Amino acid sequence: MMPEAAPSLPSPLRDAPFLRACRREPTGVTPIWLLRQAGRYMPEYRAVRAKVGFLDLCKDPGLAAEVTVTAAEILRVDAAILFADILLILEPLGFDLEFAKGEGPVIHNPVRVAADVDRVRPLESPEPLDYVYRAVRAIRAALNPATPLIGFAGAPFTLACYAIEGGGSRHYDKAKTFMYRDPGAWDALMARLVDATALYLNAQAEAGAQVLQLFDSWVGNLGPEDYARFVQPHMRRLFGLLDPAVPAIHFGTDTGSLLTRQRDAGGEVIGLDWRVDLGMAWDLLGPNVAVQGNLDPIVLFAPIPEIRRQARRILEEAAGRPGHIFNLGHGILPTTPVDHVKALVDFVHEYQPRK
Ligand code: CP3
Repeated sequence: MMPEAAPSLPSPLRDAPFLRACRREPTGVTPIWLLRQAGRYMPEYRAVRAKVGFLDLCKDPGLAAEVTVTAAEILRVDAAILFADILLILEPLGFDLEFAKGEGPVIHNPVRVAADVDRVRPLESPEPLDYVYRAVRAIRAALNPATPLIGFAGAPFTLACYAIEGGGSRHYDKAKTFMYRDPGAWDALMARLVDATALYLNAQAEAGAQVLQLFDSWVGNLGPEDYARFVQPHMRRLFGLLDPAVPAIHFGTDTGSLLTRQRDAGGEVIGLDWRVDLGMAWDLLGPNVAVQGNLDPIVLFAPIPEIRRQARRILEEAAGRPGHIFNLGHGILPTTPVDHVKALVDFVHEYQPRK
C-alpha cells in the first residue's frame, strides 16, 4: 500500500505571499492585511449591521462569510480574517455576554472570587462554536482560492481580563488584583481558557483556516516579570497544543518590554505595534520569527502623502528581510476614511526599495 501523503495545501494557497511570509520565505511584494478590516468604517459592513445585531451577525455563517469576503475583495488585501469576536468562546464556558449599543462588550456574570472559577465550564468539544466553523467553510467556498484565511481566538490573559472585569477596563485592576491575590485560582482559570482555546483554534484550522492568530490585546498592561509568571507558561502550553502545520501569529499591543518572552512562548509571527521601531524590534527578536505590523491606525486619518511616508519608513525598517507582514499596530477605527485604507494597501503593493 502507498504511504499516505502528508496533507498539503492546494498550490495557489501554498505560494500566497502572506503564507510565504509566515514561513519567512521571500515574496515579490510585502503582503498586507489590516486588523478589523471588516468593520464599521466600511459602508458595506454598516449596511449589513443595520439589519442585524453584532452577535447575531457573528452567529450567521452566511452573513459572517459575506462580511469577511467583501472586505478582503474591496481592499485587495493578501489575507482575509474570519468575521467573529474573541469573546464568543466565553458563552459556552458559562458567561452571559452582551454587546450593548455604544458600550462595547458586557459580561453580566464575571468571575470575581476564586470560587467563581469552579463554575467556568470546560469546553468538552468544539461543537458549541459550530457556527464559527460553518462560517470558515462558507468563507473558504466564496473567497478567492489564492487568498489565505486567518482564524483567531483571544489569548487567555485577554479573555481572563474580560471574564474578571466584566467588560473593557482602563487599568485591569480587578483582573490583576485577582491574579496577585490568588495565583492558584488564576492558573486554574488560565488553564481552562487554554484548553478551550486550543480545541477551538484547531477546529477552525480543520474547517479551512490557513493561519491562526492569538489576540493578546491587553497583555501590554503587565510588566515583564508578571508576564513571565502569570502568562508565559500558559501561552507556551497553548502554542504547543496547536496543529504544528498551521502558522500562528502572536499578537499584542504595548508589548515593547515583553517581545522576547512572547517569542519564547510561541508563534511563527510576532505582532508589533507602533510604539516600537519595527527594525529594532525585529533585530531583538532575531531572524527565526516573522513580524507583523506596525502602522499606527491613527495615521490613516492623515493626508495620503503622510500615510505613504510612514508606510515607506516601516518597509525600509524591514529592509527586505523575508517574513514581514504589513499591518496596523491595532484595529482600524470606525471613522477611518476607506479611500485612505485602500491607498495604504496599494502603496505597500507598489513599493519598490530605493536602489
Ligand atoms: O475584521 C476583523 O478584524 C475580524 C473581526 C474581529 C472583530 N473583533 C469584529 C468586531 C476581530 C478579529 C475581533 C477581535 C477582538 N474583539 C479583539 C482583539 C482585537 C483588538 O481590537 O484588540 C477584542 C479586544 C475584541 C472585543 C471587542 N469586540 C470589543 C472591545 C468590541 C467593542 C469595541 C468596538 O470597536 O465597538 C467588539 C465589537 C466588535 N468586534 C466590532 C467588530 C466589527 C464592532 C461591533 C459593531 O459592529 O457594532
